[in-house]
Amino acid sequence: MKKNTSKMPAVNGKISIAPSILSADLCRLGEEVSKVVQAGADWLHVDIMDGHFVPNLSFGPAVVRSLKGFTDLPLDVHLMVTHPHKFIEPFAQAGADLLTIHAESEDDTRQTLQSIKSFGIKTGVSIKPDTHPDVLQTLLDELDLILVMSVYPGFGGQSFLESAPTQIKAVRQLINASGKPIWLEVDGGINAQTAPLALAAGADALVAGHAIFSSADPELALKQIKQATPAI
Ligand code: DX5
Ligand code: ZN
Repeated sequence: MKKNTSKMPAVNGKISIAPSILSADLCRLGEEVSKVVQAGADWLHVDIMDGHFVPNLSFGPAVVRSLKGFTDLPLDVHLMVTHPHKFIEPFAQAGADLLTIHAESEDDTRQTLQSIKSFGIKTGVSIKPDTHPDVLQTLLDELDLILVMSVYPGFGGQSFLESAPTQIKAVRQLINASGKPIWLEVDGGINAQTAPLALAAGADALVAGHAIFSSADPELALKQIKQATPAI
């Protein structure tokens, strides 16, 4: 089995910001990535959508491969697909540093996480807003990251759900009770106003797409999110 040497750091007590390229100007993807690197992005979030698990299409492994050749940022790849198992190898070989699958997907979650590990990549599982965090309980041994969706997945630019902090707090309790070093990432509607709500509920990694890339000044927008989260 080919080994990918993941650049994704272990939990380190800091807050990580992961700009989502879903809202970037794709004609200028390199420039857009350079802007967020300059502004202090920690990871790059890449949303993969299959038009079935979510009602939208986005990128494939070729985009991950190009990003890998362009930036040193860890590539945080979020698979919003019904059947993730068959896509693990292509994304691993393209250079993903972390692959997050959905608990609601139709493949065997544990087997798919083991496949991710076999490539030397970090593992993540995501839950949608209506999924009970208890589904994560038996998976904690396999996980480097839990991704809590703070919008219904499928599109950038939605509003942070009022119910999200309750979900984030429940996942934080689960992680703390396990004593395991698992990142708690929150994805959807994050901006300088909502980032503190996610952090207060227990997040230590934040995805932001629209707030950064749809801004007239993406560098400033990212810095404003960082300033709003003083633990950084
Ligand atoms: C939504 C995606 C998100 C999205 C976040 O389905 O998983 O990563 O890009 O975008 P904003 O920050 O615009 O909500
Ligand atoms: Zn995402």
